[in-house]
Amino acid sequence: MTQNTGTALVTGASSGIGAAYAEQLAARGHDLILVARDAVRLRAAADRIGRETGVSVEVLPADLTSPADLAAIRDHVATEAGLQLLVNCAGLGPLGPSLDSPADLYDGMLDLNVRALQTLTFAAARAFAERGSGTIVNVSSAVALLPERFNAAYAASKAFVLALTQGLAAEVGGKGVRLQAVLPGVTRTAFFDRTGADIGQIPAEMIMEPDALVAAALAGLDAGEVVTIPSLPDIADWQASEAARFRLGPNLSHRVPAARYGLG
Ligand SMILES: NC(=O)c1ccc[n+]([C@@H]2O[C@H](COP(=O)([O-])OP(=O)(O)OC[C@H]3O[C@@H](n4cnc5c(N)ncnc54)[C@H](OP(=O)(O)O)[C@@H]3O)[C@@H](O)[C@H]2O)c1
Repeated sequence: MTQNTGTALVTGASSGIGAAYAEQLAARGHDLILVARDAVRLRAAADRIGRETGVSVEVLPADLTSPADLAAIRDHVATEAGLQLLVNCAGLGPLGPSLDSPADLYDGMLDLNVRALQTLTFAAARAFAERGSGTIVNVSSAVALLPERFNAAYAASKAFVLALTQGLAAEVGGKGVRLQAVLPGVTRTAFFDRTGADIGQIPAEMIMEPDALVAAALAGLDAGEVVTIPSLPDIADWQASEAARFRLGPNLSHRVPAARYGLG
């Protein structure tokens, strides 16, 4: 049995990337709290992980788009004394191009990908800041950086996750709270079945397995990265992009419009 490293709460732990987080965090010695809607799958994962690793695994079935369920999980995050790590992984994709998905799907996407993630992030950040330690991992997406290449609303929800994580890391980093945004590319999970897309249409060399994705994300966390892009071969490319963004800073707010608009 490995040494206990504190409790980790993982949302979206019933399948795909969240399930891989549950496995690998247990192997690292974390007790687990698993959250998703499918209680049967969560229970089966909890029993197996507990048996194989010896960590304690609690199951909290919840629909994070339901205000009552979200409030219950938020309160759990706020009051669970041993909580050291929150992984916000639950997320929902679109059904095809932006204008093809029904409006209520976008309501659900905003509720899950944005509202629930922010609610749990703030609850954890407050608790961790009071304690002076704790880590929040938010699963964004590579399309946060390329909204032109995927459903715009989904990409925007993932850009929200990226901006929230980077902004909050700057706000609370000094209080012992660590934040990481993980930007997966295409990953072989039920995500595509749920959206009706055919992962078989995507070139195999673009598709990562969830175990490899999470192993890289945890390596990035260990290395202190605020943003982890598991597929990106050369970190210098991301650093150059961030440096260019920060170079805009001093010129993003001036009393007069730029000369190119010819306003005198
Ligand atoms: N797969 C990719 O290519 C890819 C790429 C970039 C980013 N991502 C992101 O990775 C994250 C995980 O997705 P995945 O690829 O692992 O897909 P997945 O296998 O479909 O997993 C999604 C998870 O979210 C949970 N979930 C969905 N709706 C929920 C709700 N209303 N309340 C609570 N839990 C809910 C699901 O469990 P239940 O159905 O049991 O509730 C499931 O555990 C998502 O945030 C996704 O946007 C995926």
